[in-house]
Amino acid sequence: MGAVQDRLADAARVRERRGTVRTTRVGPGWEEDGGDRLLDLASNDYLGLSTDHRLKAAAIAATERYGTGARASRVVTGTLPVHTELELALAELTGQPAALAFSSGYAANLGILTALGGPDTLILSDQHIHASLVDAARLSRSPIETIPHSDLAVLGDVLANRTQTRAIVVVESVYSVLGDAPNLLDAAALCAKYDALLVVDEAHGIGVLGEGRGGVHAAGLAGAEHVVVTATLSKALGAQGGAVLGSTMLREHLVNTARSFIFDTGLAPAPAAAAAAGCRVILAEPERVEALHRVASLIASSCGVDRAAGPVQSIRVGSPETAVEVTERLRDEGILVGCFRPPSVPDGISRLRLTAHAGADPDRLLWATALITSMLLERP
Ligand SMILES: Cc1ncc(COP(=O)(O)O)c(C=O)c1O
Repeated sequence: MGAVQDRLADAARVRERRGTVRTTRVGPGWEEDGGDRLLDLASNDYLGLSTDHRLKAAAIAATERYGTGARASRVVTGTLPVHTELELALAELTGQPAALAFSSGYAANLGILTALGGPDTLILSDQHIHASLVDAARLSRSPIETIPHSDLAVLGDVLANRTQTRAIVVVESVYSVLGDAPNLLDAAALCAKYDALLVVDEAHGIGVLGEGRGGVHAAGLAGAEHVVVTATLSKALGAQGGAVLGSTMLREHLVNTARSFIFDTGLAPAPAAAAAAGCRVILAEPERVEALHRVASLIASSCGVDRAAGPVQSIRVGSPETAVEVTERLRDEGILVGCFRPPSVPDGISRLRLTAHAGADPDRLLWATALITSMLLERP
C-alpha cells in the first residue's frame, strides 16, 4: 500500500509541474458551464450532429423500442436490428462492402490489430498514431516498427526488408496531433507492392474528408482488398461507438476472433441509431462538411498557421507551462481550446489545438483567435 501511495504522490508532483488535466462540461458552440458562456474550440463534434434533432429522435426511438442497453455481447443476444441498420449505413457512407460496430473506436482498434496481428506479423505504425492503436499493436503480440511520421521511403524499406511473412501498416487519414493527412494512395501502393495490409483509422476523416465519406473513399480506395478502415462514431458522427469497415470475410473473421467484440457488451441502441442517422445526414448534406472546412480555414488564417487538412488547427507554443497557462487564461475568457503537451505528444512539442465546428459564428471566432494570438505574442 505504501508503494502505491508513493507512486500517487510522485505522479501528483509531476502534475503540479506540468499542470493538471481538468474536465469541463461543454456542448456545441456556446454552452453553460457553472454560469459561464463558453466558446467551444476543443470538442470533436465537428459537424454539430450530437445535438441534431434527427439524431436525437433516432436515439429516443431506438431506446423506446429496444431499451437502454444491448444486454449482452453481440455474439450472445446483444445483436439488435439497430446494429444491422448502423452497419449498413456506415458501409454506405464509406463505400465499403461491410462494417462491424464496436462499443468504441478504442475497442475497434483493439479488435482489428489483435485479430490480425501476432508473432509472425510485423506491425509498422506511424509515429503519430493514436494511443488506442499503440495499445492495440502491443496487445497483438506482433513485432512493432515505428515509422517516422508519414515517411514513405522508410516505410517501403522496412516493408521490403522484413523477415515476417505478414505485415500491417497502421496510419490515420487525419492525424489528431497535427491535423495533417498522409498520402493514402502511395501508402496503399506500397502495401500492395509488398503484400501488406493497410489499416487506416478514420476517426478524424469520416465526416471531414471527401464530402464526409472519409479519406479512403476520397483516395478511391474504398473496397480495396488490402485496405481496412477503423472509425469512431463519437466525433463527426455525433454519437458514441466504433467500427471496422472492410470485406465481408474480414467482418466474419472479427466476429469470431476479435476479443474486444466478443467479450464486450454490444453498443447501446441509442448511440447506434444516432450514428446511423448521422451517416444519412452526412450523405444528404455535404454542405455541412463544406462549412466545416470554411471554419477551419478561417481559424488557420486568423491565427497565421498553415491550414491543416482536418478540423483541428495546431499552434506551436514555446513550452508546456505556456500552453497550460494560455489555455487557462482563455478558459477564464470563456474560450475552450485543446492543450497538447508532453508526454501525450509524439514529438515533444506543446501546442494549442483549435477545433473547427461547422456551425461556428465567424464573428465570435475572429474575436477568439485575435485574443489567442495576442496572448501568445506576450509569451515566448
Ligand atoms: C485517432 C483516434 N482513434 C481512435 C479513437 C478512439 O475512439 P473512441 O473515443 O470512440 O474510443 C480516437 C478518439 O479519441 C482517435 O482520435
